[in-house]
Parts: sequence; C-alpha cells; structure tokens
Amino acid sequence: MAHLITGGTGFLGVELARKLLARGAEVVLFDLQPDMEALGDLADRLTVLRGDVSGWPEVLNAVNGRSIESIFHLGALLSVPADENPWAAYRVNANGVMHVLEAARIFGVPKVIFSSSMGVYAGNTGHIDESTVQAPDSMYGVTKIFGELLGRFYHRKFGIDFRSARLCTVVGLGARTRHMTQYMAWMIERSLKGEPFEVWVAESTSNPFIYYRDAVRALLMLHDAPADKIRTRVYNLAGTSSTAVEFARKVREHLPAARITFRPDPDAMRLFGKGIGTVDEKAAREEWGWQAEYGVEQAILDMKRSFEAGKS
Ligand SMILES: NC(=O)c1ccc[n+]([C@@H]2O[C@H](COP(=O)([O-])OP(=O)(O)OC[C@H]3O[C@@H](n4cnc5c(N)ncnc54)[C@H](O)[C@@H]3O)[C@@H](O)[C@H]2O)c1
Repeated sequence: MAHLITGGTGFLGVELARKLLARGAEVVLFDLQPDMEALGDLADRLTVLRGDVSGWPEVLNAVNGRSIESIFHLGALLSVPADENPWAAYRVNANGVMHVLEAARIFGVPKVIFSSSMGVYAGNTGHIDESTVQAPDSMYGVTKIFGELLGRFYHRKFGIDFRSARLCTVVGLGARTRHMTQYMAWMIERSLKGEPFEVWVAESTSNPFIYYRDAVRALLMLHDAPADKIRTRVYNLAGTSSTAVEFARKVREHLPAARITFRPDPDAMRLFGKGIGTVDEKAAREEWGWQAEYGVEQAILDMKRSFEAGKS
C-alpha cells in the first residue's frame, strides 16, 4: 500500500514525502513539473510521476493498479498564480480536486487529505472559527472552498474519508512559489542570504503563519487520527499571528544584518485585504490533539540552523 502526494515535489510535498519515507511507507509523487533537485537524496526511494491534476486520464493512471491507501492532495495553483490566471486555477484547483476524489471513489482509495487554506477567510480581521462565514474574493479562496465542500460531499455520498486542514502561511526555506503572504518566509530567507528584501504589504498587515515542520506534522496527525475522532472534518490551524512589522522586528533581532524595507503593492493589498484575524483551532486540538511546536523565534532559529548546515 502506498501514499500518493499530488504536488509532491513542491515545498510541502517534499517534506511530507520525507516524513512518510521515514516511517517506512511507500510513496508516489505526482507533479506537473517534478523538481528532482528538490527531492535530493529522496529521489531514488520513491516513485515520481509527471502529470497534471487537471487531466482526468493522468490522475486515473496515477492511481490505477498502485494500491494507494491515501492521497494527500497538495497540487494546486497558489494565490498569486491563481489570481494571474483564474482560468488555469479553475482547471487545476477545481477540476483537480474533483479528479482526485473521483479516482479515489473508482479505485477504492479510502482516504483523501486536502490542503485547504486560511485564504478562504482573507480580509476577515476578526475572530475566526469553523463556523465563520467564508467570503473570499480571490480565485484561490473560491477554489479551496469548492474543494472542501466537494470533499464533504464525497464523504457523505460515497464514504471517502475526506479530511482537510486550512493551513495558514507556511514558513520555511526553499519555497519557490510567490503567494500573497510569502513575504514572511522570504524576509528570513533573503536575510540569511545577505540579500535585501522589500515587503509588498503594509506594516500593519496581520497574518498567521505556521512553520513547515508543524504544517507537515499537522497533515500527518490529521491523516492518522482515528475515524471516530473526526467530527469537524475541515479544520482551521491557528498558527502564530503577527503584523508584518512585528515579524520584521523579530527577524532583525535574530539576524541583525537583515535589510528589510516596506513598499506595499496596491495589487497585493487588494488581493489580500487587511489580512487575517485571530484563529480558533479548538476543533483540531480537541479532535486530534493538535498543538504547534514552532513560534516566530523557533522558526527563525531553525531556518538559520538549516541554512548554515546547508552551506557547510
Ligand atoms: N505554502 C503555503 O503558505 C500554503 C498555505 C496554505 C495552503 N497551502 C496549500 O498547500 C499545498 C502545497 O503548497 P506548497 O507551498 O507546497 O506549494 P508549491 O507551489 O511549492 O507546490 C505545489 C506543487 O503543485 C504542483 N502543481 C501545480 N499545478 C499542478 C498540476 N496542474 N498538476 C500537478 N501538480 C501541479 C507544482 O508543480 C508544485 O510542485 C497547496 O495546495 C497550497 O494551496 C500552502
């Protein structure tokens, strides 16, 4: 039995694959543009398939004949690329999740884990829990809500054990795709490299982030939780909230040579609104024991350690 990860050679997919392999699991990655360099030493320990989640036969072929026990559906266009090309976002994000769920139904894959996003609440700066109305005006947010609801439908109608976590901004080294709140990780990464970084949102923009190690651990905990614990099915993860200026201050504290400036981009500000408020993650804590391990300081220090280890 194997685990299939769509978007498997992306930022989160690689770390998820690493953790699954460490458990002795068989792993199949499916990606539009497999990045073999990102896989490094993992490359010869797993199967990599090139394919497009918006292509129905390609998804069918990825699942057919492989005894897949669960699919982690991570392949997607993120917020900025989705806004630049909403038609492609519709194909990849909306058709993609339909194809994955349908392939799971046809081939009897019991479980699908879907990476949704706190972007479904973008612009809501109040208190947010799972009962909060989602009203995003980004194509990304719209397609993520579609995925969440379609998964709930496949659970009710066909018994697929669909589970989803709404990840907030994931911070870590090596993320390549620019998205609305990628400025958080890049403030740290560019500073580690000794490069200047210009933040494209206002200093007061508030946003929660989660460290990538926590994000992947959350996806695995959600995957592993006993079925009778899963009541909410689609979970908010709170992360650590910070305004852009507070986050920059923390980065400077630990990396004094950081050259971070602010030049808000009106397009980015329109897409993101005023940010995201405080998030309640009680359901994830109560139902599957979720608790983040990394705050701002721990994340910066861990990235610093990893960066220095990579150089030596
Ligand atoms: N990074 C974040 O801050 C963040 C926050 C919330 C949710 N998420 C979600 O987590 C998931 C993974 O994000 P990530 O940060 O690893 O992004 P990423 O851009 O690094 O990885 C996405 C991967 O999907 C692949 N992909 C894109 N289109 C595809 C297609 N048509 N068919 C197959 N593969 C395709 C890309 O090649 C890439 O490897 C996404 O679903 C994203 O929406 C990410």
